[in-house]
Amino acid sequence: MSITVFGSVNLDLTVSVEQMPEPGVTSHATGFLKGLGGKGANQAVAATRLAKGPVRFVAAIGADAFGESLRASLSGLGVDTDNLVTMPDKDSGMALIHVDATSQNTITVVGGANMAWSPEGPDASCFEGCKVALFQLETPQQATIAAMRKAKAAGAKVILDPAPIAATGMDALLAEADIITPNETEAAGLAGSKPTNFDEALDVARSLCGRGPEIVIVKLGAKGLAYATKSGKSGKVEPFKVRAIDTVAAGDSFNGGLAAALAEGMELEAALRFASAAGALATTKKGASEAVPSRAEVDALISGQ
Ligand code: RIB
Repeated sequence: MSITVFGSVNLDLTVSVEQMPEPGVTSHATGFLKGLGGKGANQAVAATRLAKGPVRFVAAIGADAFGESLRASLSGLGVDTDNLVTMPDKDSGMALIHVDATSQNTITVVGGANMAWSPEGPDASCFEGCKVALFQLETPQQATIAAMRKAKAAGAKVILDPAPIAATGMDALLAEADIITPNETEAAGLAGSKPTNFDEALDVARSLCGRGPEIVIVKLGAKGLAYATKSGKSGKVEPFKVRAIDTVAAGDSFNGGLAAALAEGMELEAALRFASAAGALATTKKGASEAVPSRAEVDALISGQ
């Protein structure tokens, strides 16, 4: 039943703005938030809140003042920090985030300790007994590939959230993944064209199945998602209706929710609905890890819509 998340942990500095900044312009923020983030940490929080079994988080913090406060924030949100390593001489990861009045965001990540893993990645023991393993791309590619192989060798289903998408090396990552979950931008980076509707997303999902993964899930934000499997199954999941105020960590809540659902044996369509509900609920709160919904909130949204 267990889940392992290998990924990043960041200090998120988030400013709310009316409009995204343009080059050369100084503007006043309408709000500010400092909190726990990093795609890995957000997904670990989501899996911990939503899964019925144990969750391990394998990540690196820096040997700076922020490192221990990130560890404390993770513990405070219930995440097991036994596999959190401190990288000597490195700063902790950081993300500079803008959220505009339409709730969209732009994020610039400073990798720091997250990018200091050696090509061997974490120890194989991190994946012992693991049923589902979750990866993103805020860790070095070689370390991530090595970790995905260790997860697979332990018998885990490997989910890759290809975010942020890399300009090179994606095929080697896709070859190791059982499931990938790109959003429209990441799908464009992988397939060459940005899907804007369900049919286009379906085409992209089908074409990406030919590059390794058994299942490709193309997330379309407020438009729902399309999925395709290597065995020829495909479909759509309608979005849940919520009042979105901040889309940061919506994708991470989706991925953590998907891992939780698959680890407890849900069928694919039910797991996608569960993950979609988790992603939708994350948009109704500000922040990253702090915006991840609880199991009770997700179950209530699913039974209410
Ligand atoms: O997906 C959202 C996350 O991306 C933020 O928490 C930020 O830290 C970046 O990793």
